[in-house]
Amino acid sequence: MVIKLEKVLISDEVDPKCVNILQNNGVEVVKNTKLSKEELLAEIPKYDGLIVRSATKVTADVINAGTNLRIIGRAGTGVDNIDTEAATRKGVIVMNTPGGNTLSAAEHTCTLIIALTRNLGAASMSMKEGRWDRKKFMGSELYGKTLAIIGLGRIGKEVALRMQSFGMTTIGFDPIVSPAESAEFNTESLSLEEIWPRADFITVHTPLIPQTKHLLCDATFAKCKKGVKVVNCARGGVIEEAALLRALESGQCGGAGLDVFVEEPPKDYTLAKHPNVIATPHLGASTIEAQTRVAEDIAQQFVDLAQGKSLFGA
Ligand code: MLT
Repeated sequence: MVIKLEKVLISDEVDPKCVNILQNNGVEVVKNTKLSKEELLAEIPKYDGLIVRSATKVTADVINAGTNLRIIGRAGTGVDNIDTEAATRKGVIVMNTPGGNTLSAAEHTCTLIIALTRNLGAASMSMKEGRWDRKKFMGSELYGKTLAIIGLGRIGKEVALRMQSFGMTTIGFDPIVSPAESAEFNTESLSLEEIWPRADFITVHTPLIPQTKHLLCDATFAKCKKGVKVVNCARGGVIEEAALLRALESGQCGGAGLDVFVEEPPKDYTLAKHPNVIATPHLGASTIEAQTRVAEDIAQQFVDLAQGKSLFGA
């Protein structure tokens, strides 16, 4: 398949390498990250291609207004901000860059696991407030503990490999990855019902789809060990926020590391402010390396498509 690609709009902050690759291949590029919804609707008919990160909401009306639009690229993994059904109806290709963020997201997850087990958030806060609370922040070792990884794809696997070096046992669930595949990275594949009572830590690495929404809720927290710690660097809503707050309050959950929220930015900061929560503002992919990779990947994929090479992504 060859796509005519003469003019591309980049409407979110994407590394400059993206512009360079497209321009070096003869594509005219306009980068404008300040467009309002109305301005985007007025601009989009001028372009064959649109590149976004997560800020631009590529809704059905944007896609329908794009009379020349042939391809939408997401510099990142999740395509939640793109109406893929509307794109399919209009024959517009949607591409993502599934591999570029993997290591950064995995490292951020590990950072939160380590920070949680040694109370780093609250301990650091107490020092900033001028207190020397040595007795208050007794931690636990990761050595010998069990980490449950829900979602054993690219990121889940990298988290497993890294946390094994701390002496953690990794178990996991993924309906797509076979037990033989997860055994290759020393992770025992189990059913969710087997996982809940065994886990000391749970980290989720799934998209938010009907099957994963509120995977951790009152009913599943109740099946976990008291004091289980949870991490979400995937998508807000995989862990039900109200249930998490209840579990933190009762002590059923001993701490949470949260990089993602149902609403971003959240209107309600109660969870983020909880003393046993370490929260970051969706920074999993926010590294120089990941942003360079996804920018290069999406530009190269556009160029490959324009030159009739093979397709990638969602
Ligand atoms: C992704 O889907 O790639 C990550 O959540 C990070 C981002 O939004 O760019």
